[in-house]
Amino acid sequence: MPRILLTGATGYIGSHTWLALLAAGHRVIGVDNFANSSPKVLERLHKLSGQAPVFIKADVCDGVAMRQVFDEHRIDAVVHFAAYKAVGESTEKPLEYYRNNLQGLINVAAAMQVHGVQRLVFSSSATVYGRPQSLPLTEDAPLSSTNPYGTTKLVGEQLLREMEACTPGWSLAYLRYFNPVGAHPSGEIGEDPRGTPNNLMPYVAQVASGARPELQIFGNDYDTPDGTGVRDYIHVMDLAAGHVAALSHLLGGSASFTVNLGTGRGYSVLEVVRAFERASGRPVPFKVVARREGDVAACYADPTLARDLIGWSAQRGLDEMCDDTWRWQRLNPRGFG
Ligand code: NAD
Ligand code: WQD
Repeated sequence: MPRILLTGATGYIGSHTWLALLAAGHRVIGVDNFANSSPKVLERLHKLSGQAPVFIKADVCDGVAMRQVFDEHRIDAVVHFAAYKAVGESTEKPLEYYRNNLQGLINVAAAMQVHGVQRLVFSSSATVYGRPQSLPLTEDAPLSSTNPYGTTKLVGEQLLREMEACTPGWSLAYLRYFNPVGAHPSGEIGEDPRGTPNNLMPYVAQVASGARPELQIFGNDYDTPDGTGVRDYIHVMDLAAGHVAALSHLLGGSASFTVNLGTGRGYSVLEVVRAFERASGRPVPFKVVARREGDVAACYADPTLARDLIGWSAQRGLDEMCDDTWRWQRLNPRGFG
């Protein structure tokens, strides 16, 4: 039974992946400092899995604490989720983003090196494609960054590629997520943004629930079918399954690989709003405002490589993404509280 260390384990994607790994027969050791998550996630994971979670509260930027985690647990592979992820905030606090996202990664890689752990899944992002020059995005598209958060992912990938080049036996999965949305179908875990949501789906969910009066749509004059931005939304349950597939490929002895985790299908902001109205049975009032700085008209994946290489493809469509987000929102109006 492989033992997998998850950093950022109580976060949005980490918590769903934790359950998927347990269901696939892995043992999971979770690490998080609750910088952007709640300890209540652990209670929900216990309830959903029927197993007491193995969890260590630690900061990945604390090198001593990280080495201790590896000293005390036999680990076969690591999935490194822990990072700050708010694009806007990263432009105001670049140092904090560089420190947290890169120092954390360095500490994890260093502890792996000391303990001879050679398999790592890295949470990368479609943000590494910068402003797409052509769509759909394949993994060999040019890379760039448009904000400090994006730079931490770009440099994170580069750092790991240089690391593996000089460390025989290492194999890594670079997973470039598109726009994760949705929640566990039980409604017990989901995305719990602090303060005003930055991302579309949690904002729409809060408008449908009445917690916010209206959505602001950032521009309807893009070169897209209805003028609003188009994105490749991917259900977090599909994303979690992508991590299980990536890990089994690595543990099966594969070389390093980089894959997009997206559906390959783009939806506009207006399509998301309409789908959410159908799922919730509630109106989602909106007002069109100016474009948001840094946004692109459209971004969606070519997910062919993930299908061919690791046998993974997304199974859930926009309606299921909205149904599950709405269940989570309805059952947990204040998130984990
Ligand atoms: P999240 O904020 O819900 O989860 C990240 C977790 O990491 C949180 O629980 C947080 O408390 C923890 N964390 C942060 N810094 C830490 C530190 N120094 N030590 C220990 N724990 C720390 O975010 P998420 O959406 O689950 O994202 C997970 C990963 O996926 C991140 O690396 C993110 O950059 C990446 N990603 C996310 C998206 C997205 O839109 N959600 C898209 C692409 C990539
Ligand atoms: C989606 C669409 C907005 C909010 C971000 C990061 C990216 C990745 C995923 C981590 C766009 C529009 C949004 C609102 C709106 N994260 N919108 N009103 O910007 O594609 O990606 O999250 O790696 O790096 O940049 O996602 O959900 O913010 O926006 O009209 O209140 O919804 O303009 O067209 P984005 P998003």
